[in-house]
Amino acid sequence: MPDERFSEDGGADEQADAFRADVLAGLSAPIPAIPARWLYDRAGSELFDAITRLETYYPTRTETALLETIMPEVRALIPRGAAVVEFGAGSATKTPLLLRAIDPAAYVPVDISGDYLEQSAARLAADFPGLPVLPVTADFVRPFDLPGDIDDLPRLGFFPGSTIGNFVPRSATDLLRHFRELLGTGSRLLIGMDRVKPVERLIAAYDDPGGVTARFNLNLATRINRELGGTIPVDAFRHEARWNDILSRIEMHLVAQRDVEFAVAGQHFDFRAGSSIHSENSHKYGARGARVLLLAGGWTPLAEWTDPARDFAVILAEAQPNRFAP
Ligand code: AVI
Repeated sequence: MPDERFSEDGGADEQADAFRADVLAGLSAPIPAIPARWLYDRAGSELFDAITRLETYYPTRTETALLETIMPEVRALIPRGAAVVEFGAGSATKTPLLLRAIDPAAYVPVDISGDYLEQSAARLAADFPGLPVLPVTADFVRPFDLPGDIDDLPRLGFFPGSTIGNFVPRSATDLLRHFRELLGTGSRLLIGMDRVKPVERLIAAYDDPGGVTARFNLNLATRINRELGGTIPVDAFRHEARWNDILSRIEMHLVAQRDVEFAVAGQHFDFRAGSSIHSENSHKYGARGARVLLLAGGWTPLAEWTDPARDFAVILAEAQPNRFAP
């Protein structure tokens, strides 16, 4: 069921309305929380890019190195002449690895940010002359259509970066089901999933000594002030990364350092010292948990790879046919 707040191209007005609604509802909730997708305005996206280059943030370099190693095996497991559908605009390092290795018939990057998408699509089209690059501006968590040009091609979904970890299990399952519907029975999905590891390493990855992740998190408050006429005293909040062991996830919070009062879009809020705004979850998976999540989303794991330290996993899965019996 399409969400009425979004047009198919994720138009700017719909985005602004959705941001306001999410922030007002989130700040009024008994456990204040704002969906993590709002961390990514231009400044937030640049800060996230900077995070991926940090020594303490292991996922990006670990997954990239892993993808490099496994590509010959991946290639052997997917049909020739597939269309690659990437959820999120292609990364400058990971996507070319995949495209070079499997030589697809088309590449379809899907991203909500039209600007970012156009840039990355143009870069890839220049690097892969002859490859049809068919960008789709859409919020990939919502219903959207794939370009008709790939109707008759086998499909490979690509969802790297452990972005799946930013969704709570129920939403992650919905998202995987949505990918399955979109790509169709028999399609493949190549997905990156970060592994559970010692808490100190996880905290270091999400609270780096140089404070880049802190700036990324605090930028959310700055964005609220700028775009929603907010008066949040940003310097009264501190970034905190917490490991939630029961739910197997890192949580980012903005913690009030003193009692504060502020307004957003004309609504008044107060936060006591020590209370927080929960701004992101990043779930970490054990080997079984990762498989169960994929299965619940309608995907059967076919092959699985990890780096030597078992820090990060890449799984290739196949979209299950509909079955009415066990
Ligand atoms: C985009 N996503 C997979 C990142 C993560 O690791 O959950 C976002 C991030 N948040 C803080 N550091 C990185």
